[in-house]
Amino acid sequence: MQDILRVAMPKGRIYKQALKLFHEAGLVVTEDFDDSRKLIVPVPELKMEFIMAKPVDVPTYVEYGVADIGIVGKDVLMEENRNVYELLDLGIARCRMSVIGLPDWQPVLNPRVASKYPNVASQYFRERGQQVEIIKLNGSIELAPLIGLADRIVDMVETGTTIKENGLAEFEKIFDITSRLVANRVSYRLKNARIQELCDILQRVIPTEGGVKR
Ligand code: PRP
Repeated sequence: MQDILRVAMPKGRIYKQALKLFHEAGLVVTEDFDDSRKLIVPVPELKMEFIMAKPVDVPTYVEYGVADIGIVGKDVLMEENRNVYELLDLGIARCRMSVIGLPDWQPVLNPRVASKYPNVASQYFRERGQQVEIIKLNGSIELAPLIGLADRIVDMVETGTTIKENGLAEFEKIFDITSRLVANRVSYRLKNARIQELCDILQRVIPTEGGVKR
């Protein structure tokens, strides 16, 4: 197992972009696992093994060392606050975390804020000295202000289509999001040469904000 790198891969949107980045870096995965239900995928051509994880669980697998490295969005890293080593900004899956609501919303005392990211949301309002009630939701967050569950939401904006199509307004960006390469702290020491080599190879093809390679 010593020279096999176990990689926690986020299933879905980020996976496709991560694989594309790997390909551009010459790390070609010959089999397509996109529609597969397989959860542990050997990738012998890269001396890797992919763990196909729910994105929010990637930092957990890496912190506990069952994956040496992982690919995960900055949104999840901020929310989960796991003890992992953030190695590289991969520049993919670019979006932002924002405060969103109905455009004509009037401030009230102790507003309700719905989010899939309760820790991010409460930290944001706490830092501004605003008392809010956080309501954790697991998806379709934009529904909350539309049906009167919450006054504001804290959510990801990528193209802006969801907020536009639902007549919502983006009030403030909290932070920019891209996917990151993270490592388990022990694996980073024990498999340093391999992990460092991977960072060097990926670094050459990382897209910058305007889409131009570095
Ligand atoms: C995310 C996010 C927004 C949407 C933003 O939802 O929570 O709803 O994407 O993308 P846009 O700006 O390009 O419209 P996701 O698709 O992950 O589904 P969810 O509603 O289940 O969270």
